[in-house]
Amino acid sequence: MSTIKRKKMDKLVKSFEEIDKMRIAGRLAAEVLEMITPHVVPGISTGELDKLCYEHIVNIQNAIPANVGYKGYKKTICSSINNVICHGIPDNEKILKNGDILNIDVTVIKNGWHGDTSKMFLVGKCAPHNERLVKITQECLYKGIEVVKPGAYLGDVGNVIQQHAEKNYYSVVEDYCGHGIGATYHEEPQVLHYGKSGSGIKLQEGMCFTIEPMINQGTKFCKVLKDGWTVETKDGRNSAQWEHTIVVTKNGSEILTKRNDEF
Ligand code: MF3
Ligand code: CO
Ligand code: CO
Repeated sequence: MSTIKRKKMDKLVKSFEEIDKMRIAGRLAAEVLEMITPHVVPGISTGELDKLCYEHIVNIQNAIPANVGYKGYKKTICSSINNVICHGIPDNEKILKNGDILNIDVTVIKNGWHGDTSKMFLVGKCAPHNERLVKITQECLYKGIEVVKPGAYLGDVGNVIQQHAEKNYYSVVEDYCGHGIGATYHEEPQVLHYGKSGSGIKLQEGMCFTIEPMINQGTKFCKVLKDGWTVETKDGRNSAQWEHTIVVTKNGSEILTKRNDEF
């Protein structure tokens, strides 16, 4: 391996002290999703949900909402409803209705370190096909996390996610991926949610990255709306996403953004 390459690789590995800071940021990001959960009901707007998250991060957590000002984005959360795959923009005119499925994605910066996470919400009573999409997508995330350990390959993660999605007659979005994370919001490596096992970089203890599969009921194809952010499915069918920030540990991984409603 060349010197340049090794330098790059070393940057992917965080120190114990750095991981401690990632743990704090990750907990805060998870806590935003815990806080907002009882507010996600039919009749509330995504603009109101965004305001609640902003106030919580800034006033209660004394932290920074990473999305505000990120490449010109103006909101704290991304709120993606039904056929929106990701990067849905909160709006006071966008009112949640019974049967919607919603993803809220939030990133918190604390002491310079990032925690990035998202979860799906079933708004009121949802159709069985939507409940199933949301459940299988969460399983995709967990299956991806399960294969993470030193010596495994990033391609192993993508492979198990794709296997599980396709076994259930869904497709995996390829245009957006997970990412390394730390003092920078999006850094190397790219974490694909599809691919061949044994491909990509070899995982080492101390690497931090997100896994955030976007799974579609129909085809994998996306379109970006004129607002420059909102990503929708091309065929208009629904999409789901779940995201965690994780760190590779000696024997596997630790979920830095784990919520109280999990496990
Ligand atoms: N949180 C998203 C991710 O998982 C990125 C959102 S960028 C924004 O990487 F600007 F749209 F908020
Ligand atoms: Co992310
Ligand atoms: Co995110």
